[in-house]
Amino acid sequence: MSAPDAHRYQASELQGSALQVHEIQAGLPTNRLGGPIHYFFEVESTNSYAHRLAENGAAEGAMVIAETQTKGRGRLGRVWVSPPYANLHYSVILRPTLAPVRAPQITLMAAVALADSIASLVPCSPAIKWPNDILVNGRKTAGILTEASWSSARIEFVILGIGVNLNFPEELMPESIRPRATSLLAVRQKTVQREAFVRRLIQDLDRCYGELEEVGFHSIATRWEALFGLRGKKVRVEMADQVVIGTARGIDRDGALLLESERGIPQRIVAGDVVPVED
Ligand code: BTN
Repeated sequence: MSAPDAHRYQASELQGSALQVHEIQAGLPTNRLGGPIHYFFEVESTNSYAHRLAENGAAEGAMVIAETQTKGRGRLGRVWVSPPYANLHYSVILRPTLAPVRAPQITLMAAVALADSIASLVPCSPAIKWPNDILVNGRKTAGILTEASWSSARIEFVILGIGVNLNFPEELMPESIRPRATSLLAVRQKTVQREAFVRRLIQDLDRCYGELEEVGFHSIATRWEALFGLRGKKVRVEMADQVVIGTARGIDRDGALLLESERGIPQRIVAGDVVPVED
């Protein structure tokens, strides 16, 4: 969960144990996301580590998982709270054949896959908060940070980073995020088996990524829109230099939020935070 400040946890504060990587990988039926998995107790950021691997030529499907991150990054320069042995801090290297203008579709695809994984392991109805937060019961349980590198007219690689609050007790969350965050442990009232969750996530990402590359964006966009809880609702969009209020109408092919202002003027928002407005 993104917080304004870093909060470091001792491993002893959390009750979990180390991820068993062989259990995640055993016979994993995937096409493109086949590993290897680079597993660490601690890295600065799994996205940064995966970025270095990609720059050194690592193939598509290589993944990085760390129990904790000293500089876990969220969107808009925020810190990602990364307690050890509780959550998932995951990055995968993709080398898509998509045109660079379609890079944002990868984030939307990942949000759909992540919502599928959560719903298949925990009885709940996840929703997407634009652009890529996954909410359960209205509170954030997962986030996605996609970082692309491209040269001339093609995407060199994409680092798809995913953080999920799995077994993070709400009472241990920093106060700055507690009112807006939750974990699958809190939703389910029972510990989530992390290896099973990661296996499910890798398979869902593999399936949705294949669909995006081979079939196109349409079916991903349809599912994304179905998970988007705020369509037709009045929202406030907080951007770097302004705040706009309007009605959320959905997304376009580039993943931009389509907003209809209070005066009925259509607007296209590419970056910001969306919050529902109570009427
Ligand atoms: C957000 O919602 O702000 C995006 C959060 C993304 C966090 C994940 S954790 C694994 C990967 N490594 C990082 O440093 N960030 C992403």
